[in-house]
Amino acid sequence: MLWIKALHIVFVASWFAGLFYLPRIFVNLAMETEPMVIERLLLMARKLYRFMTILAVPAIALGIWLWLVYGIGRGPGPGNGWMHAKLGIVVLLIGYHHACGSLLKKFERGHNKRSHKWFRWFNEAPVILMLAAVILVVVKPF
Ligand code: HEM
Repeated sequence: MLWIKALHIVFVASWFAGLFYLPRIFVNLAMETEPMVIERLLLMARKLYRFMTILAVPAIALGIWLWLVYGIGRGPGPGNGWMHAKLGIVVLLIGYHHACGSLLKKFERGHNKRSHKWFRWFNEAPVILMLAAVILVVVKPF
């Protein structure tokens, strides 16, 4: 079980590297006017989005393995509220990941209307979600 948990944490951390950095590229894209630089940033964003999508799959699959196969946090019973709340955060993270994909498509078509300030705030969301998920799974407050 500990090997699965160790791999779960490794893939979660790798997935978050992408969730943290891709919106930062969007901040730069929203400010950039030089076509060569925009092309370069778009190439980086495309590669990063593909990479972080590949990493999200084992991160979530290994978590589900711990939950359903080892039964950690499984069931409606008291004391598993942390797992239910954590699953809620995971759904938000998958939504955020998907939103990054849609925003990237908008940049590729030159249709982005959002300011670099908006993307700076957008970039804060995964920080808050990670904080909440780690506190829930380590402290298990409810
Ligand atoms: C569907 C997705 C996920 C499921 C089903 C899941 C489930 C689990 C389970 C059952 C454990 C074992 C807890 C224990 O042994 O006490 C665990 C550990 C952990 N999970 Fe997840 N997880 C998921 C996604 C995530 C995400 C997105 C994060 C991001 C922060 C995360 C962070 C952690 C950490 C840090 C641990 C180790 C906790 C410890 O050793 O005390 N997990 N996960």
